Amino acid sequence: MQVSENISLKAYNTFGIDVKARKFISVSSSEELKKVLQQTYSSELFILGGGSNMLLTRDINKTVLHIGLTGKRIIFETEDEVVVEASAGENWHQFVLWTLKQDFGGLENLSLIPGNVGTAPIQNIGAYGVELKDVFDSCTAIQVQTLEEKNFKSEDCKFGYRNSVFKQSLKGEYIITSVRFRLSKKNHELRTGYGAINSWLASQKINKPGIKDVSNAVIDIRQAKLPDPRVLGNSGSFFKNPVIEKSEYLKLKETYPEIPCYPMGKNIVKVPAGWLIDKAGLKGYRRGDAGVHKNQALVLVNYGEATGEELLDLSREIQNKIHTEFGINLEPEVNIF
Ligand code: EPU
Repeated sequence: MQVSENISLKAYNTFGIDVKARKFISVSSSEELKKVLQQTYSSELFILGGGSNMLLTRDINKTVLHIGLTGKRIIFETEDEVVVEASAGENWHQFVLWTLKQDFGGLENLSLIPGNVGTAPIQNIGAYGVELKDVFDSCTAIQVQTLEEKNFKSEDCKFGYRNSVFKQSLKGEYIITSVRFRLSKKNHELRTGYGAINSWLASQKINKPGIKDVSNAVIDIRQAKLPDPRVLGNSGSFFKNPVIEKSEYLKLKETYPEIPCYPMGKNIVKVPAGWLIDKAGLKGYRRGDAGVHKNQALVLVNYGEATGEELLDLSREIQNKIHTEFGINLEPEVNIF
């Protein structure tokens, strides 16, 4: 267990925001975690995973509890399938690469997503046509007050678009300590239809792609569009893609015939927030060190010294402009503290 006082959280959030934590404890096992939970009121704790989906706007006057549990193991396997478990503090992308090295299929489309394994179910991470829920088997979590360990099956998690029970009714109640994934060992089902994956494979003259090729495609496509948080602070998509009525979409289409959409159901569609922000002329827009990324308007970036407040102000300016121009409310995807 590592304990420090009054330290900067700059290295612990991918936006690179320089706020301070009154106390900081990093735990590396469930036992250590339970000990801290026993000794500290849950209202005094601020839980920190990979710090990749948060905007910190002020000093944290609480004990920041960093979930540093590591380890991965095979739980169960048949000829066709394997269930692997990773501890919450494992880096997501390193874990994905490890599964690919074992030739386990399922996570390739989710390559290069920042953050840790334990926070992936909270917002049901997704990219290139795959969501965590598609490969999720179960997760183990500890109730912060009773210390009771509970196993959550997929249906218990109530996964939705960038959403789960851990963001809703159970918010702040449980700390996820490990996650199990159900992956394929052979006859991998490739999902290459989304975005530019197929055209990337064709450009590389790969006719019979495998899971590693799909991962390489995703890595290349992401690197071209999304800034590397180690170089330019960011939190991935800052807003969710708004879901609107089809009638509203058709009305917008009269003015903007090229507006893209993803059908969601009979009467609703999802519109890319990045397209709206881009169309509103804000791609590459910059206010001090807070900006809209030049290659992907859905990503806000910290050019160096931006404060959380400045990024929040910028996000509000964007929300206002999108509301004025398109009548659409953008909701943040990142958690704001
Ligand atoms: N677009 C623009 N201008 C931009 C950005 C996007 O016109 O500046 C257009 C694109 O041309 C495309 C559409 O908007 O027609 C969608 O863009 P893209 O395929 O890049 O995906 P997205 O909807 O912006 C979502 C996820 C990403 C995920 C990608 C790929 C959300 C909020 N974001 O982005 O997730 O990587 O799809 O699957 O659902 C994240 O959550 O942090 C994240 C990066």
